[in-house]
Amino acid sequence: MTTVHVTDLVKDYSIRSGLRRRRLRAVDHVSLDLVPGRTVALVGESGSGKSTIAKILTRMEKPTSGTVEVALDDGTPVRGPMYLRQVQMVFQDPFASLNPFHSIEHHIARPLLIHERTRTAAQTHERVLEMLERVNLTPAETIAPRRPHELSGGQRQRVAIARALAPGAQVLIADEPVSMLDVSIRLGVLNLLGRLQREDRLAVLYITHDLATARHFSDEIVVLYRGRVVERGPADAVILDPHHDYTKLLAQAAPDPERGPERVTAEAVIDRDAIDNSVCYDHFLGEWVQAGTPAARGARAGRAGQPA
Ligand SMILES: Nc1ncnc2c1ncn2[C@@H]1O[C@H](COP(=O)(O)OP(=O)(O)OP(=O)(O)O)[C@@H](O)[C@H]1O
Ligand SMILES: [Mg+2]
Repeated sequence: MTTVHVTDLVKDYSIRSGLRRRRLRAVDHVSLDLVPGRTVALVGESGSGKSTIAKILTRMEKPTSGTVEVALDDGTPVRGPMYLRQVQMVFQDPFASLNPFHSIEHHIARPLLIHERTRTAAQTHERVLEMLERVNLTPAETIAPRRPHELSGGQRQRVAIARALAPGAQVLIADEPVSMLDVSIRLGVLNLLGRLQREDRLAVLYITHDLATARHFSDEIVVLYRGRVVERGPADAVILDPHHDYTKLLAQAAPDPERGPERVTAEAVIDRDAIDNSVCYDHFLGEWVQAGTPAARGARAGRAGQPA
């Protein structure tokens, strides 16, 4: 089993404004842990830094500072090709992430061959069919030779999931995996991810704008606002008892049907401009901590040993 420790991650981009270049801090001292068999939801509005964290975890971007430590149960660090095999990503857009010129079989066989998971062509074919069955794309024999445009959006996303798991993923980063799908099929894909997570004891980072699915499909929620973690805790605690104004704002924007209609009183109207991202409410500690400073590391250290 594989565990991920993200500590004090910072990512600065240099962006052009007029003739000058200025620094944009997309991720500001973020720490989080991904452990086998658990899902952490990373929620926040557009531009809050969610995909940047996903890209750093999957080695598509380098962090400006901070560390991502990935290790096996016995402490052996996961590096190089093993890292690329074990840490896999499912992208938001199932239309853009598959190559229209290649068959479904090709998409799943490729990572098997690259990561030397199978030895013969027959073995590879067998494994492709197995993976298609695991993501409920049946009959696998008739799906395998098709091209992506011959599948629905939901089916394509299932192919993307099969492709991520094929090389033996232990850590799955799902960046808004259902936001481009029709509402009616989202639940099916999320349930599939949930089942695979349980069966393979995957460590999952589920990135979403949607608090309701974050609550339903994750154990822990980390709320990101302008690059900083402003609230974290068990999923139910964050949703039912939000402390930070930004989380309250998110909850107001997406009322949870189980909580009944939210009464918006004068007090409950939150002034967006006054939202402070220098503090973070940590439900595990039951207290406020500094956000966006190296001191926020203390939150994680203090949480060690408690049920995450
Ligand atoms: N390659 C880049 N160069 C410059 N700025 C970037 C780059 N990638 C991201 N950014 C900026 O970093 C910030 C965080 O972007 P990111 O894509 O991580 O947000 P996000 O939370 O995933 O948003 P969304 O919900 O819209 O996907 C944004 O302000 C974005 O404009
Ligand atoms: Mg994004």
